[in-house]
Formats: sequence, C-alpha cells, structure tokens
Amino acid sequence: MTPDEFRIHAHELVDWMADYMSATEYKVVPPTKPGDVRRLLPGRAPESGESFQTIFEDFRKLIVPNMTHWNHPGWFAYFPANNSPPSILAEMLTATLGAQCMSWQTSPAATELEEVVMAWLADACGLPTTFRGVIQDTASTATLVALITARELHSAGQIGLSGKTEKALRIYASDQAHSSIDKAVKIAGFGLANLVRVPTDSDFAMDPIALRSAILADLAAGHTPCAVCATVGTTSSTAIDPIRKIGEICQEFEVWFHVDAAYAGTATILPELRWVIDGVELADSYVFNPHKWMLTNFDCTAYFVKDPSSLLAAFELTPEYLRTTYDAEVPNFRDWGIQLGRRFRALKLWFVLRSYGVEGIQAMLREHLQMASTLREKVRLSRDFELVTVGVFGLVCLRANPEWAQESELNALNQELMAAVNAEGHSYMTHTRLRDVYTIRVSIGQWRTREEHVDVLWESLNRSLQNLSAGRST
Ligand SMILES: Cc1ncc(COP(=O)(O)O)c(C=O)c1O
Repeated sequence: MTPDEFRIHAHELVDWMADYMSATEYKVVPPTKPGDVRRLLPGRAPESGESFQTIFEDFRKLIVPNMTHWNHPGWFAYFPANNSPPSILAEMLTATLGAQCMSWQTSPAATELEEVVMAWLADACGLPTTFRGVIQDTASTATLVALITARELHSAGQIGLSGKTEKALRIYASDQAHSSIDKAVKIAGFGLANLVRVPTDSDFAMDPIALRSAILADLAAGHTPCAVCATVGTTSSTAIDPIRKIGEICQEFEVWFHVDAAYAGTATILPELRWVIDGVELADSYVFNPHKWMLTNFDCTAYFVKDPSSLLAAFELTPEYLRTTYDAEVPNFRDWGIQLGRRFRALKLWFVLRSYGVEGIQAMLREHLQMASTLREKVRLSRDFELVTVGVFGLVCLRANPEWAQESELNALNQELMAAVNAEGHSYMTHTRLRDVYTIRVSIGQWRTREEHVDVLWESLNRSLQNLSAGRST
C-alpha cells in the first residue's frame, strides 16, 4: 500500500470509526457461539495479497458483528474500558510513528513526555510530589513489578527463591484482592502458599488488626514478611482498604507496601473523593488504570513508586548492544519494568489530558457518580431490589429480593434475572459473589452512558423480574 493509497483508506476508516462511535444498533454482547468466527475464516494465510476493500469488508461482516462492544453506552459489566476520540487519534499517531520506547535514545520525546504526563497525573490525582511514574501495560504487570521489586530487596535475584524455603517470603492481601495478585505471587516465585489472605470487615475492606496479627504470626513462625498489597476499589464491590493504617503497619515491620487502585484511582482526580487514598504517601508503589475510567484506550497503566532506585535494582540490565551516550543522565524506562520494547503510550494520555483538561475528566466522573447514586436511590426505594453494598464509586452492587422469593432461591433468581436482561442486548452486566450472595454488578463508567441508558437498564431489571414472577405462577 503506497502512502497515497493509505491516505484514501485511512479516510474511509475514520469515517467508519466516527459512525461506530455514535452507533447504538449493536447488541452489547453478540450472540456468537464458540467456533462461529473461526469457521468463517480460511485455514491458511492467502498466498497473494488481497485488496484493502476486501479486507475491510470482511472486518465489517465477520469481525464487528462478533465483537463485544465495550464502548457501547449500555456497558455496565466488569469495569469500564473507556476510550475517547482524542485517545483514539493519539493511538493512530503512535502506530504511525511505530517507535520502540525502551530507552531515552530510542525515543527522546516519548521518554520525556512520559515523565511529564505522569507528573501531571500525580498532581491531578493528589499523589505525593515525590512519587515518580512510569507507564506499564496493565495493573497485573504493575503488581508483578511491585512484588518482584519487593522480592529483590531480599536479594532473591542473586540466589533465587529456592534457597529460601525455610524462611519463606510472605505476601499479604485481603480476601477481596484481585486475582492479578495471586498471579503475580505465582509468577514471581513466592508460591501461592505464601500469599496470606487477610480477612475483611463487613464492608469488604481489609482488617488492619488481622493484618498485624498475620505478620506477627509469620515472624514467630520464622517467615519473612515481604509485601502487603492493599486495594482501593476492590473488583467485586469497590471496597476501600484503610491505606493509612495498613501503611503504618508496613512501616513498623519494614514491609513493601503496594496499593492497587486499578479502577478507583481515576476517581482521586476529584478532590471530594481523595480521602479514599488517605495515607498513600506511605506506599512504596501505587497503580491505577487510566485505561479503565479515564478516557484512555487500553492499554495504559499508571505505576508510581516512591523510590525509582528500587525498580532499577530489580530490573536494570544494560548489555553492550543497548548502551547509549546519555544513559547516566536520563531514565531508560526499560529498566523500570519487565518489557524491553515499549509502546508510546504517553501520547494518548497527553492528548486526553489536554483535550478534556482536568475539569473535563472531573465533569465526566461526577456525571457517572451521579448516575450511580440515582440508581442506588431507586434500588433503596424499590420493594423488589436491594443494595448488597453501599459503594462510593460508579459500581452499584444490587440484587433482586422480592417478597415472593425465599432467601434460598435468591442466588439462582438473580442469575436468571441478569441473564434475561443481558439477552435483550441493550445493556450488559456481570456478577460477583459477596460472602456467597450472588450480586449483580452495575458498573457505570462508559463515556457515552447517559441517564437514559441507566433508565433502560433499571426498567428492564424490573420488567424481567415481573416476567420471572409471572413464569412461576403459571
Ligand atoms: C482491583 C483490580 N486490580 C487489578 C486489575 C487488573 O487490571 P489489568 O487488566 O490492567 O491487569 C483489575 C481489573 O479489573 C482490578 O479490578
């Protein structure tokens, strides 16, 4: 494809993209069954090149109708993965530049822009000015980086963990922490048996007294407490672990303190919600995902550390072929994490922060929070539904609990109800279990979601519940 042909096709694509962005005719989740798409595709790559028109036509015919539309305004599942027009445009430029941002020399503007936008982000979110930021691909990677960094403080890199079986390095996280912590514990070689699950209180937040007891018990047993992972905004219910109290315990026992605010971290751009990270200055590392709720295309994870030299101690390696003239003067972000090759992700953050400004992002978040509290109020006033947790962010955890159903039937009833609403195609929700209560999660945070979309969902929940009730009595 020549640059001139590229220009023509790119214009066509942008027209399609703009239409897609305002389209509502798609079902949020397609009726696709496993194998449906594979069956439509040839088993071998074509021997000779095909025209762009043919490829694009197949994209429209085979791919789009079989996609789950995360940026549909009826997206209420998991957490949002919202994008935005400026972010998409920046992604186009990133792809066009095609740069590898592994060291300053391989991408001077990318490295320095990353330093600047991460400092902007820290400032906008009320993080300590001493934190230094680097962009990682996902929160899962950032947590792995944190645990490897903590592990290296016990010089595991030189001797490996195999020499440490008697004095096990122990990791602590609440019983509500995300599975990425389990995964990081496995990958980093601690062994899942050394992940201590700290109990949570009635709000699903880590009990700091139980944490302290667990650390003391481990010390008495000859283990070495290595890191605590606290969560601000747990995945199931957006519970908030008490950061300051946990941080003080980490200081007392000289344990690495990692805070996972993957979803909720974006909310701290609102001064009125900054209390959720009270005590964050005690953290050694902190992660949140602009790719969830901050209008920035996946992937873009903001990872902050108190002391970058600890990251370098864990990850810095400079083979001769990577040496450059300026290594002593500049950050080489390949040494701040796992990947060598890195995408130019700072560009989309820069576009987003400049296009919306802090105020624009705050306005969107406040709108989502308002929709969530309106829905909570409707649930509170309803005779058929109840809130399972209170929640302060955009996630509403609810379940149907009508008079006509026994407690023992509620889990199955809510499962059926959610499936019935999702099948209508206008909205998509997912579930969790909170102390074995089947809980419907309505996660409000997609950038195109408006009050009317939440109304459609609420009306459908009520109507579908009545249908289930009618179905039982016939
Ligand atoms: C609290 C929490 N931590 C970590 C993750 C993992 O995020 P990522 O997909 O960026 O690895 C999630 C995902 O929803 C999450 O909710």
